[in-house]
Amino acid sequence: ADPVERALDAFRAGDPVCVHDFADREGETDIVYPAGAVDEAAVAHMRNDAGGLICVAVSDAVGDAFDLPFLADALDHPAVDDDPDYDDRSSFSLPVNHRETFTGITDADRAKTIVEVANAAGRVGDDPSGYGPDDFAGEFRAPGHVHVLRGDRDGLGGRTGHTELGLAMAEAVGAAPAAVVCEMLDDETGDALAPADAAAYAARRDIPYVEGAALVEALT
Ligand code: 5RP
Ligand code: CA
Ligand code: ZN
Repeated sequence: ADPVERALDAFRAGDPVCVHDFADREGETDIVYPAGAVDEAAVAHMRNDAGGLICVAVSDAVGDAFDLPFLADALDHPAVDDDPDYDDRSSFSLPVNHRETFTGITDADRAKTIVEVANAAGRVGDDPSGYGPDDFAGEFRAPGHVHVLRGDRDGLGGRTGHTELGLAMAEAVGAAPAAVVCEMLDDETGDALAPADAAAYAARRDIPYVEGAALVEALT
């Protein structure tokens, strides 16, 4: 089947997708899950088989409702450009823990934080006035162990990172505007996993592998 259709079918079922962004961007493949479907096994899957940072992306509207800042604004240097080399800006906001976690790092704790971020994002999606900064601060604390990323206001029209690619898949299947991403690293070299190796892993594990370009083409 078409890679985009396979990816969306997996997302609809709460299953992971491997997403390679672009050779002229990060050139990385992330394991991506719809955030509401993440359980302990999914966190273990990402830290064992991907190995990068486990982050939860939320839409711009949700970021506004939560009153989430961009971390890049926290260290403001007048003379130096802090933007990454591969994009105009970073999508990183705060790292958070749900308040009903202990250290925040265990598989159970991170799954709890991620699922509750998805639930909160879903509540914003249903009624933006029904869930505000105080609700978010009441449920979550910072610093924490799950990095929140803010999607661009114009989605894939404004930025084409894994942040927006994951959120576009969530939107396409009607899931809450929250997607978890984790970079796949090469255990031998420590570098980003080469696209061919990521595709081979995905094939072995029966996980859809999709190119960012195909998602942009299909979803914009
Ligand atoms: C968080 C990252 C990853 O690259 C992740 O894929 C999100 O970032 P982006 O939207 O820039 O691709 O840096 O670990
Ligand atoms: Ca990155
Ligand atoms: Zn990325």
